[in-house]
Amino acid sequence: MDKIVALCKRRGFIFPSSEIYGGLGSTYDYGHYGVLLKGNIKAAWWRSMLQERDDVIALDAAILMAPAVWEASGHLSSFTDPLVDCRTCKQRFRADDLESAACGRKPSKHPGEAEDCDLTEAREFNLMFQTTLGPVKEAGSVAYLRPETAQGIFVDFKTALQTSRRKPPFGIAQVGKAFRNEITPGNFTFRTREFEQMELEFFVPPEEAPQWFEYWLSERMRWYCELGLREDHLRLREHPADELSHYSSATSDVEYLFPIGWSELEGIANRGDFDLRQHAEHSGEKLEYFDQATGERYVPHVIEPSAGADRATLAFLVDAYDEDEAAGEPRTVLRLHPRLAPMKVAVLPLVRKDGLPELAREVYDGLRGRMQSDYDEGGSIGRRYRRQDEIGTPYGVTVDHQSTQDRTVTLRDRDSLEQERIAIEELGDELQRRLDADWSSPKPPA
Ligand code: GAP
Repeated sequence: MDKIVALCKRRGFIFPSSEIYGGLGSTYDYGHYGVLLKGNIKAAWWRSMLQERDDVIALDAAILMAPAVWEASGHLSSFTDPLVDCRTCKQRFRADDLESAACGRKPSKHPGEAEDCDLTEAREFNLMFQTTLGPVKEAGSVAYLRPETAQGIFVDFKTALQTSRRKPPFGIAQVGKAFRNEITPGNFTFRTREFEQMELEFFVPPEEAPQWFEYWLSERMRWYCELGLREDHLRLREHPADELSHYSSATSDVEYLFPIGWSELEGIANRGDFDLRQHAEHSGEKLEYFDQATGERYVPHVIEPSAGADRATLAFLVDAYDEDEAAGEPRTVLRLHPRLAPMKVAVLPLVRKDGLPELAREVYDGLRGRMQSDYDEGGSIGRRYRRQDEIGTPYGVTVDHQSTQDRTVTLRDRDSLEQERIAIEELGDELQRRLDADWSSPKPPA
């Protein structure tokens, strides 16, 4: 993980927030390449939910919602973690996870293990961030930052049903920020207090819920594999009954083998009719489906694949990170799926003279309208390749002296390091063909 953190900082993917003020614990900013990478992951998710199917519609609900939403959803009463304080070191820990925490005074021991540890009784700590609406702090002005995007979907179910003219099975998809006042954030962007979720609520006739649950388990595993995560680093883990959330009758996590061990990447839950019934009861609105053809009326059940955009970004970075040798020198390379890579191609003039930069600029201008392209003429060609390898650019185009004579360039593959000559006029189509092709990680299995 240290190597990933260092690379992310060095190349400006992800770095601590508010750094000039000493940072703010476990909050991170995404720089240029990080924005492009996470954007590509979110775009791939949207593509799989919307473009490649016709039973899902999109939503972008507000982060601030009526406080009654959180009463109905159960978050005000149940969205808690057990917290203990240590009176000696003044630190706070999750009572149900002391074995992965370090004592504030003796880090080789867990909280409670050292002689002078003095832990309080566990108490329930609500993870929602509270704020006030308007300039006056008074009763009735309290609001919460949403701890999941899902509730916006349930609350808008009726409007979405009416305006989209869908019938179950159909889904509503949303990507957006969520906030949780985690007791123990950490492991880089794995657990933070502000993060992005990619959530689908898929509404189905009650009797079809079990089969749709199975369907989404395999569909979501397929999505990660198709984008290049190594299959032997992915698994499904079923929650035992005592681990299920208050709303769930069945949940399985997609887990990835992070450097911290197997950990949740995405949760897939059968939420039954819990949410729609709760909101119907609290709001007084009917949240159900009426089938005019059959006269049937029912409250749909919900299957929810809920993924984290930041956690997925971290998994793709971890899976892509590799070290090998190129041209006899050690290199660090991100073997990202070309479709996820922040830059698709880098155009590099061999030297900064003899008309090469001008021709390279022409090549770059011809490509940038079609795909995210980089132009770099600073430093030796070897160093420029190293830089592109580190940010995961799958293709490098070098403009050399031969290019000025026959209008061909060399096309270098990041993974195989193979180089071939290709006509400038054919470059765009060839790159597009490669970007559209299936791809799997050349990294060996664990
Ligand atoms: N609506 C269901 C729900 O929110 P969850 O398992 O609590 O379920 C879903 O969250 C996903 O959101 C997780 O699998 C993870 O990818 C991401 N996530 C949750 N808490 C997170 C945190 N503190 N930091 C980063 N990502 C988080």
